[in-house]
Formats: sequence, C-alpha cells, structure tokens
Amino acid sequence: MKSRVFVTRVIPEKGLEMLRQHADIEVWQEPLPPPYQILIEKTRGRDGLLCLLTDRIDAGFIAALGPQVKVISQMAVGVDNIDVAAATARGIPVGNTPGVLTDTTADFAWALLMAAARRVVEGDRFTRSGRWKTWGPIDFLGPDISGATLGIIGFGRIGQGMAKRARGFDMRILYFDRTRKPEAEREYGATFTGLDDLLRESDFVSLHTDLSPKTYHLMNDVRLGKMKQGGILINTARGPVVDPAALYRALSSRSIACAALDVTEPEPIDRNDPLLSLDNIIITPHIASASHQTRTRMATMAAANLIAGLKGEPLPNCVNPQVYSMIAK
Ligand code: GLV
Repeated sequence: MKSRVFVTRVIPEKGLEMLRQHADIEVWQEPLPPPYQILIEKTRGRDGLLCLLTDRIDAGFIAALGPQVKVISQMAVGVDNIDVAAATARGIPVGNTPGVLTDTTADFAWALLMAAARRVVEGDRFTRSGRWKTWGPIDFLGPDISGATLGIIGFGRIGQGMAKRARGFDMRILYFDRTRKPEAEREYGATFTGLDDLLRESDFVSLHTDLSPKTYHLMNDVRLGKMKQGGILINTARGPVVDPAALYRALSSRSIACAALDVTEPEPIDRNDPLLSLDNIIITPHIASASHQTRTRMATMAAANLIAGLKGEPLPNCVNPQVYSMIAK
C-alpha cells in the first residue's frame, strides 16, 4: 500500500510529481496555509508531512500525530516554526532544504541593500505620483555602496554569499558569528569583529542568523543605537531577530538612515503597523528565495527528504540526525 502524505500548499510541480510516484498525496489547495486544527486533522493519520515555514509544527501538533508517522519535511532552510526537540523525542526525522537557496537569497539581500542605499523604491513612488519635475542636484542622495563597510551578522552560507558579492564592490567586510570561520575569512577578505565593533563601524548591517532564543530581538534599542547614524539595516533572516518597536524608534528619529526587510514580526506585517507609515523602510513579503529555479530545487529537495523518510532511509538533509542513533539503540 502506498504511503499517505499531506502537503500543506501547492508547491512547484516537479516536487509534487516526485511525491505522486511514491505516495498518495493530498495537497492543500488554498492560497492561505491550513488552520492549525485542520493541519492536525489532515496529518494525524498520515505517514508523512511536507510543510512550509508558515505552518506551526509545535509540540501539541507533534503529540497529536499517529504512531505511523515517519517523517516531517519542510520546504525551507529555517525550521524555527517546528519544535524539532519534540519531533526528536518521538523519533521523527525532520528535513530541510539547505544550500539550494544560498545564492538566490544572497542576491535578494544584495538587491535590498542596493535599493535601500540608492532609494530605488522611494524614487519609483515619486515618479508614479507625478512629482518628478526636473533633475535635482541634491535630490535622492544616498550613500555609496562601493568602498563602504558591510557588517555581516551570521557568517553561514548566505552570510558568506553576501561577502562574495561585496568583494565585487570593493567593500570592507566585517563579520560576527558564534564561531570564527578562518577559511571563509581568507576567501572573502572578511574580518571577524565583536558585535559592538561591527555595529559601530558598518555602513550596512546585514542579518543572516537563524532565529533562536539567542537571536530573538538581537537588534534591540541598544544595538540599533550602536549603529552609525546613516547606517542601513538589511534583514533577510527571520523577522523576530529585529525588535520592530525599536526599529520604528531608530528609523523615525533617523538614528539610522533606512532599513530593508524581507521578513517581519509578525508575518505578514499588520497593515496598520507603524513601520509602514515610514518612508525610510522597504518591506518585501518574504521572497528572498523566490526564483523559479530555486523554488523548484527546494520542492524537489523537500520531496526527496520526504520519500527517504517514508522508505525508512536517512533523509538526505536532516536537522535532527540524532533520531537515527535513537532508533539504532
Ligand atoms: C526561507 O526563509 C527559508 O528558511 O528557506
């Protein structure tokens, strides 16, 4: 008998095709994610789940799954929406999609950096509103990117992707991470610094950490206050790494010049959020990995993880490989 799987949204067709060959799949067809209770009902009796970062896979959800469940496969690299410890305690492997979205996400973070510095979005709004009357010698000035200092917080794959791009712009590159990365330092000409020094010296600060209790509201009043006046903050990591109220204060008082966010707290951002009243912020709807090629790669990778899990094989990309030693014991 074929395994039974629930897929929480329509994903690129190649991934669904792979799944259909190995399992009976039900795909949630709505544009919005399944509500929590429905997610539980749909998954409870099934062997596997393919989920997205918009699904809340918490301890209650995991406890509600039947004994037949073999795998949870997330089509994303970040898994902060999943209680991985609870899955591990039940011996359920959890898959993710690292590596395939590195360049696409770094490209987008770079697009935000350039758009923020050179006021691309403001300029577009200005043009559309009919206010463009002449070439203005002191209008729409922003900082140079070439030769500026870029501070990268979180020097994993995507953070290093930013450094790679920054080299082409002759930037000075600083980074902060839990661990020093000497090889990447050499490869990208990046300098390891303390967080405070990075904030003080960088013209651009780009966030590339995961979301954990340690990084929750990492950019708070104190840290935003340490950034240069005229500094620009880019966040393509996870929304809650930045305290939105503190960011509002920093932007509205012009203690920093601008922010560009692809992720917010909460997601989606409330229409009445004060941040949306500001001119010096760009907010995009969590689309950094949204290229045709990358979303297809993420879907096929998530499908491959799911299929391996259904067969009882190790997932090619597993965030809790300790489940295998638990099973062996
Ligand atoms: C996207 O944000 C991801 O984690 O893949």
